[in-house]
Amino acid sequence: MSDAALDVVEFLLTTSVYSDDRTLDENDLPPSFRQVFWTASGDGDGGQGAPDRSGISRPLSATNSAARAATGVDQPWDAVSELMFTERDEFSGTVTLAEQGMAERWFVERADDERLRENPTLAKHFDEHDEYGSAFDVDHEEARDRNRPIQADRVWIDGLLEEYFDDEEDEEMLDLVEVRAPEEVDITLDDLVLTDGQEAEIDKISKAIEHRDYLAQIGLREIGKLLFVGPPGTGKTSTAQALARDMDLPFVEVKLSMITSQYLGETAKNVDKTFEVAKRLSPCILFIDEFDFVAKTRRSDEHAALKRAVNTLLKSIDNISLIEDDVLLIGATNHPDQLDDAAWRRFDEIINFPKPDYDMRTDILRVITRQMRIEEFDPQLIAEITEGLTGSDLRMVLREAVLEALTEDRTTLTQEDLLNAVEEFEERDTLKNMDMIEGDHDALVAGGDLGKASDGGHGHDHDHDHDHDH
Ligand SMILES: Nc1ncnc2c1ncn2[C@@H]1O[C@H](COP(=O)(O)OP(=O)(O)O)[C@@H](O)[C@H]1O
Ligand SMILES: [Mg+2]
Repeated sequence: MSDAALDVVEFLLTTSVYSDDRTLDENDLPPSFRQVFWTASGDGDGGQGAPDRSGISRPLSATNSAARAATGVDQPWDAVSELMFTERDEFSGTVTLAEQGMAERWFVERADDERLRENPTLAKHFDEHDEYGSAFDVDHEEARDRNRPIQADRVWIDGLLEEYFDDEEDEEMLDLVEVRAPEEVDITLDDLVLTDGQEAEIDKISKAIEHRDYLAQIGLREIGKLLFVGPPGTGKTSTAQALARDMDLPFVEVKLSMITSQYLGETAKNVDKTFEVAKRLSPCILFIDEFDFVAKTRRSDEHAALKRAVNTLLKSIDNISLIEDDVLLIGATNHPDQLDDAAWRRFDEIINFPKPDYDMRTDILRVITRQMRIEEFDPQLIAEITEGLTGSDLRMVLREAVLEALTEDRTTLTQEDLLNAVEEFEERDTLKNMDMIEGDHDALVAGGDLGKASDGGHGHDHDHDHDHDH
């Protein structure tokens, strides 16, 4: 019997058990299963009386296409049609278990603990039915803890956003706030090289999130507002995202410059809305990037509207809490010197993101080259000659090396490629700094010449793509 059959039978059993056992909720279904049955709100056919709410309604109907979407098995019915205990209603396309007991015994013989650990519904079922005795060493609680919560699913997030942002004006707001499901974040904490200080803070906040009930109980509320401080490209955004992924929390990102510049008069309202989105999606991480933007606008008193926005922002920060609202607030800034006390005071932890030192650069190089083949790779030597470069810069160096090698149809790099790429990067950096000499055309021309003279003419080609999220 193939795994396909086992997958489909698991799905059929799950839908059947879930339909019968009313104590189970959506967090008892594996994400790939519940996504099939999740109905966003406002879809019309919700029951009368009760307000349209998104959710999963019983009984779960296991049609062939639902089974396909949930299990990834191309022809679900074909995979199980030979089994004695399966049945298909030709009319509705529903696949059912004619003999659930037989299906259970069949399943018990083939499934292992690992499979059951990913399925709280079945974990509970087999744990509670004595006839299966010690078939599995998994209990309900354990499987539930391990299962990704519904709040982390894209379907759930979309459902909520739809429910909440119905008119056009609101939709414009959604262009300014970016919401990502943890499943859509592709960076993990393992991909990041952190300082000991950063690691300690991340640990601390992870624990606090885990135990927020306890913290509420003892009345400890001043926690859950972090400010990430450091130059561009040092991993602030990545760390916040990785934290969202590791903690299974939706990631709500907003750049202050965006909500301020686009709709000047509406800025205060946008700020309000941003925090409302976060509260609606809670538990979640609200990441406010370019936090220094506040400071700048606070000082220039040209716009009353902006001042109002800043006050709204500060008030909103005061009114949101990890303990009461389940929102972890992370601010990030490249310019801590521009933040005034009013903003600074609102964060209970400041986390420093320095440029990486030699050891960190070595580690970052190891991490970002994990999937690459490099002959005579000596990350320490590269680390030595890249003083002052950030993690983001190092990524660019590697990208450059990879692309250069590809021009020679090579997918294996050499240490030499990396050395060249570092040199290239430094030349580009010089050019970039030249550009910043305002209005000095001679300098620009000379810079161009300098680039040409030193690298045989292709120094300038790369000047367009230094847009690494500043
Ligand atoms: N310490 C680090 N370890 C691993 N990768 C890093 C590190 N710092 C930066 N990077 C990489 O550089 C890129 C830019 O980082 P980002 O998080 O956007 O920086 P910031 O938000 O501080 O400007 C990302 O791809 C990230 O993975
Ligand atoms: Mg960033």
